[in-house]
Amino acid sequence: MHAHFVLAHPEPQSYNAHLVRSGVEALEAEGWTATVSDLYAMGFDPSERPEHFADPLNPARFDVQAEQRHASANGTLPEHVTAELERMEAADLLVLQYPMWWHLPPAMLKGWMDRVFAYGEAYTSTKRFENGRFVGKRAMLSVTVGTSRETYEHDGRSGDIDLMLWPVNFSLAYLGYTVLDHFVAYGVEAGLRYSDPATVEARLKKVAEDFKMTLTGLDGRPVIPFNRKAEWGEDGRIVPGAPVYSPFIRRRRELELE
Ligand SMILES: Cc1cc2nc3c(=O)[nH]c(=O)nc-3n(C[C@H](O)[C@H](O)[C@H](O)COP(=O)(O)O)c2cc1C
Repeated sequence: MHAHFVLAHPEPQSYNAHLVRSGVEALEAEGWTATVSDLYAMGFDPSERPEHFADPLNPARFDVQAEQRHASANGTLPEHVTAELERMEAADLLVLQYPMWWHLPPAMLKGWMDRVFAYGEAYTSTKRFENGRFVGKRAMLSVTVGTSRETYEHDGRSGDIDLMLWPVNFSLAYLGYTVLDHFVAYGVEAGLRYSDPATVEARLKKVAEDFKMTLTGLDGRPVIPFNRKAEWGEDGRIVPGAPVYSPFIRRRRELELE
């Protein structure tokens, strides 16, 4: 089995980088092989732009999806984009490792998605979800957050973590991945220490151990459900009787907030 980690953190001594090293070590001890795309260290350019397309379809007006499709068809996607896709292709498990920054992934990771999940190559209107390129492979988010688990509960002040991570999980499902329940490292107080340093150290040590156990016990990990193609009507809306898995895609317009 082979795992690929995508790390979006600018500091090699960060807890995020530590988690990736711990994860690689744990999997290798179980006989896996592993690779890492350390996006900042690689100097990955997260901004999709015309300069990335050597043989543009339309030099007068940059249309991202049209250019990605054209480059996919002609084999002219940038080499560092195809290299990322090959690493994803080679992996049975993809782990996206990043810190929560302003309630979202760092722009580096989002830009990696914008560029690597290229139209034509990674997905098309017919090659997605259960017909997606990466069907049969598993993916999992591993996210660090500054505050406690309680603040990320459904009633917590940081917002419901399952909802906050849904858009990235949905994008992985869009590519065909079986998406495993995310791993969240809570209370990763980086430079600013609000708690006693020894308490933080002990917590972070335990989290890294939990991460290792998570990676070596993936078969028992819950899979996040998403709707299948047959559950969408002609108009793109959910059909009567289809299951509803998340408040993001639901039958009723009104959410019961209390
Ligand atoms: C730009 C920026 C934005 C942040 N936004 C959030 C946030 O929205 N929610 C949160 O829990 N922590 C937030 N944090 C704290 C980081 O999530 C925390 O520092 C990180 O997970 C620690 O991991 P590290 O030691 O690997 O950097 C933010 C940190 C930075 C630098």
